[in-house]
Amino acid sequence: RRCILSFLGIDLGTSGLRAMLMDEAGLAIRTVEADYTTRSPAPGWSEQDPKLWIDALDAVVEELRITEPRFANLIGIGVAGHMHGATLLDDMGNVLRPCILWNDTRAATEAAAIDQNPVFRDISGNIVFPGFTAPKLAWVAKHEPEIFRKTAKVLLPAAYLNYHLTGDYVADFSDSAGTSWLDINARDWSNTLLSIGGMDVSQMPNLVEGCDAAGMLRQDLKRKWGLKQDVVIAGGAGDNAAAACGIGAFKEGQGFVSLGTSGVILIARDGCYPAPATAVHTFCHALPARWYQMGVMLSATDSLNWLSKITGQTPAQLTRALPDALRTPSAVKFMPYLSGERTPHNDAKVRGGFLNVSIQNDAVDLTQSVLEGVAFGLRDSLEALRQTGALPKALYAIGGGAKSDYWLKLLATVLQIELQVPEDGDFGPALGAARLAQIASCGSDYNTVMRSPTVSRVVKPDTNLIDAFERAYQNFKQNFAAYRSLSC
Ligand code: XUL
Repeated sequence: RRCILSFLGIDLGTSGLRAMLMDEAGLAIRTVEADYTTRSPAPGWSEQDPKLWIDALDAVVEELRITEPRFANLIGIGVAGHMHGATLLDDMGNVLRPCILWNDTRAATEAAAIDQNPVFRDISGNIVFPGFTAPKLAWVAKHEPEIFRKTAKVLLPAAYLNYHLTGDYVADFSDSAGTSWLDINARDWSNTLLSIGGMDVSQMPNLVEGCDAAGMLRQDLKRKWGLKQDVVIAGGAGDNAAAACGIGAFKEGQGFVSLGTSGVILIARDGCYPAPATAVHTFCHALPARWYQMGVMLSATDSLNWLSKITGQTPAQLTRALPDALRTPSAVKFMPYLSGERTPHNDAKVRGGFLNVSIQNDAVDLTQSVLEGVAFGLRDSLEALRQTGALPKALYAIGGGAKSDYWLKLLATVLQIELQVPEDGDFGPALGAARLAQIASCGSDYNTVMRSPTVSRVVKPDTNLIDAFERAYQNFKQNFAAYRSLSC
């Protein structure tokens, strides 16, 4: 049978929008990107005008339309979005203010106050982190009461794109689980949680599974884009759930470590096992009756990017200066908390630092300690995940940081787990979203569609250095308590 139908996976990321056109065999036809910026009008704030997302979408669609004939055969679209963002709309569907993003910490006080009420952890299954959506609305209610009064709908970024594409207010469970308003076990909005913040379920989008249909592409867009057939829009997903779909992680214990702006260790679960005290995130998966858990560190490659800005060398130049073989643990210690931390510390105020720097240390030593600090932070997440019963045997390594061989060897040794490096290809949220689109539009079986990529090589822990890094990790943990009391 000829593969003629195509599917579009959209990854609405923090720094840009990527769109992957995929064929019926699940292979990428073409991936295009359009970047945008984030505004930070005050320290700790992080905002984006949703119009940027629409402009980026228009740009990538235009490029695909002109360059790729198979775009005209599109029958399904899935959107994966950066999570937790609050896009506020009035009763006419107009955007009321810039979207407040996942990495915005202005609502730290509100989050701590809401988190005091045990019913939030009980029902939403998670700590109410400052980056989550509910505290943002509490902040708006306090500081922008006029906007709060006019808010008729609260949409996550992916749900806003769903709205743009379909004209309907629809979100999926995996993304909605990060609002602090979802009952993650029942997979439904919680009236109890919403009403505590003066919100109502009518302000929420309808809910569907990520792989079910959220609606149809608006006819005017279908015409403008030159499409031949009606197009199904899938429920979509939060970007981490979509990345799990891209890597084929949906069965108990399957997962990945992602070295992106934020660092994530994600493990799929066959049931809902919330453990909020660990600061692990427990969210619905984008597939029915499945959940996942993840530890999130806020500055992974961001830590290296920061060092790159300071030293004037690119991240690749910095990591290339390290030798092939792992060095013994650095005497210089890096605390990887440039933007605060989620797992395991839930501390929006803690900041980064170097300890034990001496006169002979050079940029290579600092690079080594930054990579180690991030690896130790991820080990913290893995330990927290283990406490929930999530026990991965191996992890796929994805994200920009996984291009550094040194970082991978170090991470495998610090985590004491094998890392599987996928063969060249794009296995991120855009592929996951395209797969959700295929299931939603063709009714395909997810067991067939959500394949794991071929492993090009396995990075094993360096047995000669496991003990040394174990001691260094224990030391890192001990130092942290004292360090935290100094960090203000
Ligand atoms: C997850 C989280 C980030 C964003 C950005 O809880 O906040 O991973 O989804 O991509």
